[in-house]
Amino acid sequence: MLKQAATEVRLRAYAPYSRFKVGAAIRATSGSLYMGCNVENVAYPEGTCAEAGAIAAMVAAGDQRIAEIHVIADSPAPVPPCGGCRQKIAEFADLDVKVTMHTTDGLSKTMTVAELLPGLFTAAHMDRT
Ligand code: THU
Repeated sequence: MLKQAATEVRLRAYAPYSRFKVGAAIRATSGSLYMGCNVENVAYPEGTCAEAGAIAAMVAAGDQRIAEIHVIADSPAPVPPCGGCRQKIAEFADLDVKVTMHTTDGLSKTMTVAELLPGLFTAAHMDRT
């Protein structure tokens, strides 16, 4: 179900510069699904990743916890979230939450948030402030 949702939203990605379309689908702990695709910009750093879009949709709808997330792209190997997106996912997911990455031709790989972002920066690191 999440793979299908990510596959569908990927087709709506706006990626004229990289031509690399990515779709992401989140199941929140409430059970609701949220989708996002990458949205690029001619000012390249202003582009946003699919995962960031899905997280923004989730938060805007009133959910704040990720139960599961799937990401898909047309890539030779399942594409892992970029470093920034790993931190964004970790903000809203427990360390044991599964991130499943897919290629459009059927390869999949599942990793936990902890595996994707070892040594993550947390609020506890600011305890002296
Ligand atoms: N991208 C994502 O949307 N998610 C990822 O996990 C990896 C990269 C996008 C950003 C940019 O629009 C394009 O893929 C190429 O980097």
